[in-house]
Amino acid sequence: MQSFDVLVIGGGPGGYVAAIRAAQLDFKTACCESNPYADPKGEPRLGGTCLNVGCIPSKALLHTSHLYEEAAHAFADQGIRVQGLAIDVPAMMQRKAGIVTQLTQGIKGLFRKNKVTLLPGHGQFLGREGESWQVRVGEETVLAKHVIVATGSKARHLPNLPVDNRIVCDNVGALELQAVPKRLVIVGAGVIGLEMGSVWRRLGSEVTILEALPDFLAAADADVAKEALSLFTKQGFKFQFGVTIEGAEVKGDGAILRYRDQEGKEQTLKADRVIVSVGRVPNTDGLGAEGVGLQVNERGQIVVDDHCCTNLPNVWAVGDVVRGPMLAHKAMEEGVMVAERIAGQAGHVNYDAIPWVIYTAPEIAWVGKTEAQLKAEGVEYRVGKIPFLANGRALGMGAPQGFVKMIACAKTDRILGVHIIGANASELIAEAVVALEFGAASEDIARICHAHPTLSEVMHEAALAVDRRALHF
Ligand code: FAD
Ligand code: NAI
Repeated sequence: MQSFDVLVIGGGPGGYVAAIRAAQLDFKTACCESNPYADPKGEPRLGGTCLNVGCIPSKALLHTSHLYEEAAHAFADQGIRVQGLAIDVPAMMQRKAGIVTQLTQGIKGLFRKNKVTLLPGHGQFLGREGESWQVRVGEETVLAKHVIVATGSKARHLPNLPVDNRIVCDNVGALELQAVPKRLVIVGAGVIGLEMGSVWRRLGSEVTILEALPDFLAAADADVAKEALSLFTKQGFKFQFGVTIEGAEVKGDGAILRYRDQEGKEQTLKADRVIVSVGRVPNTDGLGAEGVGLQVNERGQIVVDDHCCTNLPNVWAVGDVVRGPMLAHKAMEEGVMVAERIAGQAGHVNYDAIPWVIYTAPEIAWVGKTEAQLKAEGVEYRVGKIPFLANGRALGMGAPQGFVKMIACAKTDRILGVHIIGANASELIAEAVVALEFGAASEDIARICHAHPTLSEVMHEAALAVDRRALHF
C-alpha cells in the first residue's frame, strides 16, 4: 500500500497548488484527480474547473470576442478600415482548447518537477489506520498522514430547467458552443452570465439576461453596479430583474422559456441557446465524508476554521468546497496556507484583501468594503472618485468609460475599499490589494509616483480626491 505524508484530493487550483507547496516543503505528496473533462489520451486533466471549464477558457473567448468587437465597431474611429470581417467559431474554440491543454499539461510538468505523485482516480475516505487516513483512489487504497480536500464545486442547476449542454447549458456547454446563437437567454445576471453573455453578444447574439433578484450585482459597490448596468444596456444586453423561472420546452434546435416577470405575469421567451448561471455548489460527491464524520454544513460546504482545519485531525479543506468566495486565487492562497501549516509554519490568508474581478468590457474589479457595508457597520469614511474620461491614456486607448473609487477611513485615512470599473481594472486592482494588505492610507497612494501616461494615474487621482486635492479633475 502506498503511503504519503500529504494526500490532496482534487487537482484544481486549490489542490494542485497545495500539492506543489507541500512537496516544496519536503513532504512525500500525492494528488488524486478524478476529473470528467475529456482528454484525448484518456489521462486525468489537472487544473480543475479553473483551467478546464472556468477562468482560462472563458478569458480566452473573452479576448477573441473583444478583438472581434473592436474590429467591427471601434477600429473605424481610429482610421482603420476592415473589410470582410468574420468570426470562425470552431477556430476560436480550437485556440481556446489549445491554451487549456498547454496549461493542464504544464501542471503535470510542475508535478514532475516537484516530485508530486499524480494518482488518477476518485478519492474517497475509508477510515483511520493508526495515525494515518485510509483513502481509496480508484481501485487502490493509500495511506496519508494529512489529507487536504480540494474537491471544488459544480454548477447549480434549477429543477425546472434541466441542463443538456446542447440547448440548455451550464458553464461546460456555454464554453463549447460551435456557432453564434441568434437568441441567447441567460438565467442569472452574475459573473458567469455577464462574462459568457459578453462573449456571445460581441459575436452577434441578442442576449437577454433573466435575474431572480430585483437588483443588479448586489455584491458590488452600488455606484459600480449602476454604471455597469447602464453601460451593458447600451451595449445591447436586455435585462429583466425579479423573474421566476417556471420551466422550458426544448424543441428541435431551440427552447421556449416560461417565467414570471417582476409583476408576476406569465411570460415566454424563445431562445436558440440558454445558459444557466445561477451559482455553484460545493462538491463532496462520493467523498465518504459521512462515513468518517467529516462535518459538512447545510450549504454543502466542508466546515473549516480560519486556517482551513476541518473537525477531523489532520484533515484540511480548501477552495470552493469551503466557505468564502469561489475564486481560483482564494483557493490557491488557502492551498499554500495549509501546506505551510502542516509544516508548522504560520501560513495565513487575509480574507479582507481578496480581489474580485469581472472580465467584461469595461472590466470590473474591487477589493475591500463597499460604501453600503461601511454604512451598515457605522464606519465614517471619505470617498475619492475619478472618471477614466479625465485620463489621457484612457482616451488614447478609446476607453473613457468608468471610474476608480477609493474609500478611506475618515479618522485614520486607512484605505477600506477600492472599486474600479474601466479598462484593465483586473490589473489596476493589484495596487489596491497591496495597499489594503499593508494597511496603507490614501495619502500613501497619493504620494507614490505613478508613471505617465498610464491608467494607474486614475488610482493616484482617486487617492488625491479622498483629500479633495485631485489635480486633473
Ligand atoms: P476546482 O477547480 O473545482 O477543482 C476541483 C477538482 O477536484 C476537479 O478537478 C475535480 O474533478 C476534482 N475532484 C472532485 N472530487 C474529487 C474526488 N473525490 N476525488 C478526486 N478528484 C476530485 N475564478 C477566478 O478567480 N477568476 C476567474 O476568472 C474565474 N472564472 C470562472 C469562470 C467560470 C465559467 C467558472 C465556472 C468559474 C470561474 N472561476 C473563476 C472560479 C474558479 O474556477 C474556482 O473558484 C476554482 O476553480 C476553485 O478551485 P478548487 O481547486 O477549489 O476547485
Ligand atoms: P453568481 O453567484 O455570480 O451569480 C448567480 C446569479 O444568478 C445571481 O445574480 C443570482 O441572484 C441569480 N439567480 C440565482 N437563482 C436564480 C434563478 N432561479 N433564476 C434567475 N436568477 C437566479 O454565480 P455564477 O455566475 O453562476 O458564477 C458562479 C461563481 O463562479 C461566481 O460566484 C464566482 O465565484 C465564480 N466565477 C468567478 C469569475 C471571476 O472571478 N471573474 C467568473 C465566473 C465565475
